[in-house]
Amino acid sequence: MKHPLLLCVLGAVISTVFSAEPPACDYEHDIRTYFCKRIRDVFPNIFYGNYHLQCEQCNIRIFTNKTFPFSNSLVSFNVSESAIRVITSRAFSSLSNIQYLYLQNNIIEDIEPGAFAGLRQVYEVHLENNNLGKIVPGFLDDLEANTVDLKNNKIKHLPSGVFGGSLGVLILDLSKNRIKTIEPDAFAGLESLEVLNLENNELCHLTCGVFKHLSTLRQLNLADNKLSKFTVGTFSGLTHLTSLNLANNSISAFDGNILIPFNHLSKLDLSRNGIYYFDANSVHVNVPTLRVLRIDDNLLSCIHLINVIQYFKKVHVEVVNTVGRYHVQNVIGIACTEIILNHSVDFEQFLKVAEEDTKKSISYC
Ligand SMILES: *[C@@H]1O[C@H](CO)[C@@H](O)[C@H](O)[C@H]1NC(C)=O
Ligand SMILES: *[C@@H]1O[C@H](CO)[C@@H](O)[C@H](O)[C@H]1NC(C)=O
Ligand SMILES: *[C@@H]1O[C@H](CO)[C@@H](O)[C@H](O)[C@H]1NC(C)=O
Ligand SMILES: *[C@@H]1O[C@H](CO)[C@@H](O)[C@H](O)[C@H]1NC(C)=O
Repeated sequence: MKHPLLLCVLGAVISTVFSAEPPACDYEHDIRTYFCKRIRDVFPNIFYGNYHLQCEQCNIRIFTNKTFPFSNSLVSFNVSESAIRVITSRAFSSLSNIQYLYLQNNIIEDIEPGAFAGLRQVYEVHLENNNLGKIVPGFLDDLEANTVDLKNNKIKHLPSGVFGGSLGVLILDLSKNRIKTIEPDAFAGLESLEVLNLENNELCHLTCGVFKHLSTLRQLNLADNKLSKFTVGTFSGLTHLTSLNLANNSISAFDGNILIPFNHLSKLDLSRNGIYYFDANSVHVNVPTLRVLRIDDNLLSCIHLINVIQYFKKVHVEVVNTVGRYHVQNVIGIACTEIILNHSVDFEQFLKVAEEDTKKSISYC
């Protein structure tokens, strides 16, 4: 019982010693980086050239336009792991040359509208692993950035126009959040987006026309959600999509007609759903551009699966499979059963049936 107390006292002593030391920046010539230590309110007013900056043991809490107000030509600014909770409007307006902004692994819960205003040549803004439950329209206002990474936050809702005012975003990562609802105009303002990652959220429904602003989108990842049905028109507007990932959702009967909007789709992933019936012809008719398909870990009978694969061979679509269920009855590693299902069952249950079928088919000589 004495040890935790001792540790507390020791911790208090150490933190007093640290906080007693003033904030300071050291420049390391060989890696062209300023290491700034123990920053709380404001960075030291020194000469900052066109190098990198990395914060260490910083405890910034609220990043405002007074936290780093000095003229500089820094190319990267790393304030990850700096206990930042809030970013206020125009917080980075003096960092107009930066190409990389690292804000990941903080506890950011609030980003004010216009927080990144004035940043014009950013390649990557890293906001992953923070505490964002809510993002508000204008939070990316006047930011020009190739990649915005919001992975692993706690975002539940994408309101209309939330990304409005951003300039030239190509890659947006919203995976590992808790997104349940996306408003019809949530993606307005992302007219040059090419990659959208919504993997591992809680989506069970997509509003009709929600992707209408994303005519340049090439890759859409909706894996690991709870989607079961799509309205005809859900994907309208995505004319340039080349890759669609719907793996690990709750689709039981896949309707190929929802693929009509895609004129260039070449990769489709439908693995790990509860699909027991698959209309290969309807998929091919709607997306003749398809080249690679994943349908493993669904609920298909062997006879149906063989027909599907033979059909796709004929029209030059490769059915690929990375799981490899070779210990049970399978076609090219995709597990299947003797019986034809007419409703969805749990996949583990399906695998058991496939295993039993396998045992039954062993004949000894
Ligand atoms: C910083 O922001 C405040 C309001 O948030 C504003 O009044 C002030 O003019 C800004 N200062 C600079 C240097 O931009
Ligand atoms: C940013 O800083 C953290 C430590 O604060 C460090 O672990 C990380 O490697 C740095 N990232 C880059 C890209 O330099
Ligand atoms: C399927 O998605 C859920 C989230 O919806 C995730 O927790 C789970 O790990 C995923 N399963 C696989 C096998 O990837
Ligand atoms: C589904 O199949 C079972 C037998 O496997 C059968 O008893 C049932 O009537 C079928 N249901 C429908 C809706 O076809």
